[in-house]
Amino acid sequence: MSTVYDPHDAPTRDPVAYLYRKALLQPPQVVPLSGGVSGETLLVEAAPARLVLKRALSRLLVAGDWTAKPERAMTEAAALELLHGLTPEYTPQLVHADREQHTIVMTAAPADWLPWKTVLLGEEPDPTHGTAATAEVLGTVLGTWQDRTWEAPQVAARFDDYEALDQLRLSPYHGAVAAAHPQVAERVVDLSAELRSRRDCLVHGDFSPKNVLVGPDGLMVIDFEVAHAGAAVFDLAFLQCHLALKAMHLPHRAPEFAAAAEHFLHAHRAVLTSGRRPPVERTGWHTACLLLARVDGLSPAGYLRPATAAAVRALALDLLRADDPAIEEVWAKIMESAC
Ligand SMILES: Nc1ncnc2c1ncn2[C@@H]1O[C@H](COP(=O)(O)OP(=O)(O)O)[C@@H](O)[C@H]1O
Ligand SMILES: [Mg+2]
Repeated sequence: MSTVYDPHDAPTRDPVAYLYRKALLQPPQVVPLSGGVSGETLLVEAAPARLVLKRALSRLLVAGDWTAKPERAMTEAAALELLHGLTPEYTPQLVHADREQHTIVMTAAPADWLPWKTVLLGEEPDPTHGTAATAEVLGTVLGTWQDRTWEAPQVAARFDDYEALDQLRLSPYHGAVAAAHPQVAERVVDLSAELRSRRDCLVHGDFSPKNVLVGPDGLMVIDFEVAHAGAAVFDLAFLQCHLALKAMHLPHRAPEFAAAAEHFLHAHRAVLTSGRRPPVERTGWHTACLLLARVDGLSPAGYLRPATAAAVRALALDLLRADDPAIEEVWAKIMESAC
């Protein structure tokens, strides 16, 4: 006798439920992504798609009172579109931008990639070809962005919103350290004014190891909310500052970070000079100013021990009180204090 099937159970009535039951289709998985403070970021996986959904918050997820307008999500969307066009291998692809919801959707990095910061701090084994090799690729990527957007009128017109830069960088970094250190306030205010007034090229604005995802066969730069048409020196100094902080925090690895800083600058310079762009100036002072901001600004580097923070402060104040140092000089001083 043959079985009589209820037509309500027919696979074609609810094919998705049927395919889930038969394990022929996987239900989407949603995983919150930690590490950021300025938005809600989720990974949504429904094989083969892997997408990242990011909604900008107006109040940042930090202890202090730190607000920024959520419209910066659309700045991030525009920067992703522009830079994915220039370096598709090294930036996510924008999939969707929702102006009303301050939300963007982009492609995700491969599942086994890690924030470079966790690798540099030794929290995870290094999956890359080494710190210097990663830094060199980053130098080429940043150099390419700067070279291709150099004094471009369309870039200046599209990335002319300076509120995120003011709210997320100049006020909590430069403003806070100028108030805390009157003896260098004039210099810091001057550096801040330079960042606010120059229109060299597109600036990432948060070019830090936290915003670089690395894997065995590549890297991806993320987090373009503070992108603006501005001073080329800012992204250079930002990365130098992060490498310098790691060198002072982990003195036994200081030579590794110093070599990475050199490889980064060398690769960056090679791209810019091939495009015959003017050299980037005052990297030394800007690096010193950012070092001071990461100990006495609104967002201090969480991993520094008090004695290291004191050494960073002393070094940064010294550098800011003297003539603009060559970046090599800054590194020589970092190596002295790390030994
Ligand atoms: N495209 C992506 N692929 C994989 N992980 C990502 C991607 N974008 C963001 N993330 C993860 O989410 C975290 C927060 O995203 P990010 O854009 O840096 O936000 P925030 O502005 O809050 O710092 C990152 O540190 C990273 O771990
Ligand atoms: Mg981030």
